[in-house]
Amino acid sequence: MFITFEGIEGCGKSTQAELLCRALEQTGIPSLLTKEPGGTRIGAQIRKILMATSNRELFGPAELLLIQADRAQHVAEVIRPALERGILVICDRFSDATVAYQGYGRGLDMELINRLNHYSSQGLKPRCTFLLDCPVEIGLQRAIQRNKDHQKQAEGRFEQEDQEFHERVRKGYLRLADKEPSRFVILDGTKEIQALAQEILSITQRLLEERR
Ligand SMILES: Nc1ncnc2c1ncn2[C@@H]1O[C@H](COP(=O)(O)OP(=O)(O)OP(=O)(O)O)[C@@H](O)[C@H]1O
Ligand SMILES: [Mg+2]
Repeated sequence: MFITFEGIEGCGKSTQAELLCRALEQTGIPSLLTKEPGGTRIGAQIRKILMATSNRELFGPAELLLIQADRAQHVAEVIRPALERGILVICDRFSDATVAYQGYGRGLDMELINRLNHYSSQGLKPRCTFLLDCPVEIGLQRAIQRNKDHQKQAEGRFEQEDQEFHERVRKGYLRLADKEPSRFVILDGTKEIQALAQEILSITQRLLEERR
């Protein structure tokens, strides 16, 4: 089973993805936690280019293609092989992020994005996508604080975008969720970390039971 986490900067994706992975391991369900961009050795190099605060001149189409290159490598090298071995894969951001950020956020050609997503992911779709929705101010504040605490200011290229950009991304995600209600679970990202983790774990367990 393939599960993804989506949402704006600082909404809590990495926190929840890690908690879910740990909880599943404890119940004896083998799972793999991975992320985009940067889920492979080559992807880590692409991630540096994408996240570098100093790369201000990175052109939108170049950004889109770097993200797709990262995904193509990631699906082929990590996600597909794990799924084929029956491992549950949890991915921190996937194709929906490209629709939300480069499509709704940057205004790039949506049809092209969908085609590239299909190409780079080999047509792979998540069974379930947890969308952690939260106000832009809250998410950005959390992300900026976290970057400060963990000396990650050099990776803040997206955090630097203006408020309207992040608002478009947030709305884009909600629109995506509207279009595919059977795949998306929208959660209130302002709730407590443990309460959210509990909700996410029980939904995942229910999906696993459905498969038996
Ligand atoms: N529900 C929550 N309530 C309060 N703080 C939270 C919550 N979830 C996460 N945080 C904190 O907010 C910060 C950002 O969380 P996290 O790194 O998980 O977000 P993210 O969605 O992965 O961000 P990014 O898009 O930048 O990768 C962290 O310091 C985390 O501890
Ligand atoms: Mg994260």
